[in-house]
Order: sequence, then C-alpha cells, then structure tokens
Amino acid sequence: MKKSTLSGIAISFAIFFTSCNNSTNNQTTTTEKMETKAGVTKTAWGNTDGKEVFLYTITNAKGVQVKISNYGATITSWVSPDKNNKPSSIVLGFDSLSGYLAKPPYFGAVVGRYGNRIAKGKFKIDKTEYTLATNNGPNALHGGLKGFDKQVWDATPASDSTASIELSYLSKDGEEGYPGNLKVAVRYTLTDDNELKIEYSASTDKATVLNVTNHSYFNLTGDVNNSILDHTLMIDADNYTPVDTTLIPTGEIKSVKGTPFDFTKAKKIGLEIGAVSGGYDHNFVLNKKDSSLSKIVELKDSISGRTLEVYTTQPGVQFYTGNFLDGKFSTPDGKKINQHAAMCLETQHFPDSPNEPKFPTTLLLPGQQFHSVTVYKLSVK
Ligand code: GLA
Repeated sequence: MKKSTLSGIAISFAIFFTSCNNSTNNQTTTTEKMETKAGVTKTAWGNTDGKEVFLYTITNAKGVQVKISNYGATITSWVSPDKNNKPSSIVLGFDSLSGYLAKPPYFGAVVGRYGNRIAKGKFKIDKTEYTLATNNGPNALHGGLKGFDKQVWDATPASDSTASIELSYLSKDGEEGYPGNLKVAVRYTLTDDNELKIEYSASTDKATVLNVTNHSYFNLTGDVNNSILDHTLMIDADNYTPVDTTLIPTGEIKSVKGTPFDFTKAKKIGLEIGAVSGGYDHNFVLNKKDSSLSKIVELKDSISGRTLEVYTTQPGVQFYTGNFLDGKFSTPDGKKINQHAAMCLETQHFPDSPNEPKFPTTLLLPGQQFHSVTVYKLSVK
C-alpha cells in the first residue's frame, strides 16, 4: 500500500490508542500503538471505471480521524474516543472499496445531482421537461442510477495549513438526465475542536437543479448492535413536509406540534416512532430564517457520552432512521447492519423542490456560484 504525507502540519506527537472490538467499523481487536500527525495521508484503495481510488485519512491534533475516499466523496469512518476513552467509529462504512461497489444505501457518500426524491423522475425548467431514471418505485432518488455517490472524484489536499481535502467532479450535460455541465466541489475539514466541516460549491453552464448533501449514517455508540432509537434528538424545526406513500412531499408545510415529528424539545427517537408509518424519513423545515450557518440539531447518546451537533446553511434536514436497513450489509467486524442500526441527518433543500414552486428554489443558473456549508461537531462527556 502506497502512503504519502500530503500535508504535515507542525503538531506531531504519539498517541496510544487502545482499540476496542465494539466499534461500528475500522477497528482492530488488539491493543495497538499508533503514531498520529495532524494532517492528511493518502493510501491507494483500488480501481474502478479505469480510475484510481484513494483513501485519505484526516487526523486532527487530538488524534481524531476521519477517512474519506474519492469514490463517491465518501466518509468511510470517523473514529473518536467515547467517555471511557475507547475509540470507535460513529459512522457506517467499510474498510475496502469492494464494500462500496456492492452498492450499500449511500453509506457516507455525497449524493447528487439531486439528493432525495423527484416525483416520477420528471421536472421542468421554463418549458423544457427533463426525464430522469426512476430508481425508487415511481420516483428518482439521490441522483439516479449512477449518481455522485458512485463516481470517482478528483481529490487534492488543501493548499493551506488546515487538515482538509477537496474533491471535485464534473457532471456532464445530460448525465442521469440532468441539464448542464455541472462543476461540483466538496471540501472536508476536520478541526481540532472535532468539527467536520463540509463545504459544497458548484457552477453550471446551463440552468439545472441541484441538491447536494452527505449521506452519513450515525450511531454515536460506535456499535451497530445498539439501536439509535435510544439516542436523544433535538431538531430546531417547528414544521416538516408531510409525504405521500412514495415519500414525495404533498406540498404542505405542516406544524410538528402535537405530532411524533415534534423534536423541538429533545426526546428519545424511539419514543413515538411507532406512530410514524415506516419510521422517520422526513424533511424538517428548519426554523432558521436565512442562509447563515446555524445550529439545527443536537443528538446525544448516554452509552458513549457522545453528542453530535449539526450546523448548516441549508433550509432543511432529512431525518432518516435507517428504516430500510435490513441486515444485508455488515460492518467490517462482521456485525449485521439491521433496521435502526444508524440514522441520517442530511442537510438539504426540500425533496421534490423542482416540482413544488412554493419550496425554496433548487435552480442553479449559469453565472451563479452555489455554496453551502454543514458542520457536524462531536463532543464527549
Ligand atoms: C434517504 C431517503 C430514504 C432512503 C435512504 C437510502 O434518506 O429519504 O428514503 O432512500 O436515503 O436508503
């Protein structure tokens, strides 16, 4: 395996990781001594589509590590210590490319060009109708048959001294039915405060629609045998977008008050999930009134003592409780990933916005520069 240090920033020290065997992924079962350096390292990770795939490890000054592949711009692990100082990964992922080539449901990937659903795979810009593949019942989901999650991105380490990498991809005019050559870039930065910052930027040469997000599945305990239904969640949203039976928004913006969708005060995810047909898989309309970076979510787990805060510039978040996880995929340490083993908090524009004129627009025009930021901040007590 080829390893090369891309950015070695000054802080260099040794950390002793006592690894454990109850992790979501990527942990060994023996005690090992690991020398860490804040910065980014690159490892060869195989080939697909005639392109080289790499795994980048971003390490911060606290020894927390996030691994990212240029296949799908995917976060494959995020290893941090729990309250007992045991490291484990809080996201679902695999330790080899083959895991991703088996098409897991978007584990850690960037989804686009349009994340979530477009009804019947059809939308119009002005008078032109565009047709997408219907890959989710009657609808188009997460960018199509070969969306951003299944593409090999170009990757470059950050040019400044931050522990970050930038991935870019050119989605050609007509790819998966979308109009316009879209240049999209995603930059991941891991700060010394254990914040994983994700910045998206994009531009197009023809009017198109865009809804790009990251599809990480979290289990803060680091062990998929613990259900996320015991996590406690707060979402700063007084409203959500109800859906039809195919998970397309009805167009209504509905109050969460007095419904199982009320997470304005923190509560256990499992408390009222039984009253939500199929489990939570809904877009929450965030209370934030502008596109500034604001805190929208707090997720807590008492087993590990971990808290995850989410900040975003986006107007919505898809809260998905891993309803379709069915044991088909396993963690690298052999545990089956069952329903509710992990959950997603996908910051986004609302599903099916191209067909809902009342929703915030997802149109991107030539000459416009798209920019959005989401920060996942991890802490432990
Ligand atoms: C999103 C969708 C879900 C499901 C998952 C992937 O979160 O909203 O309905 O498709 O992706 O399985």
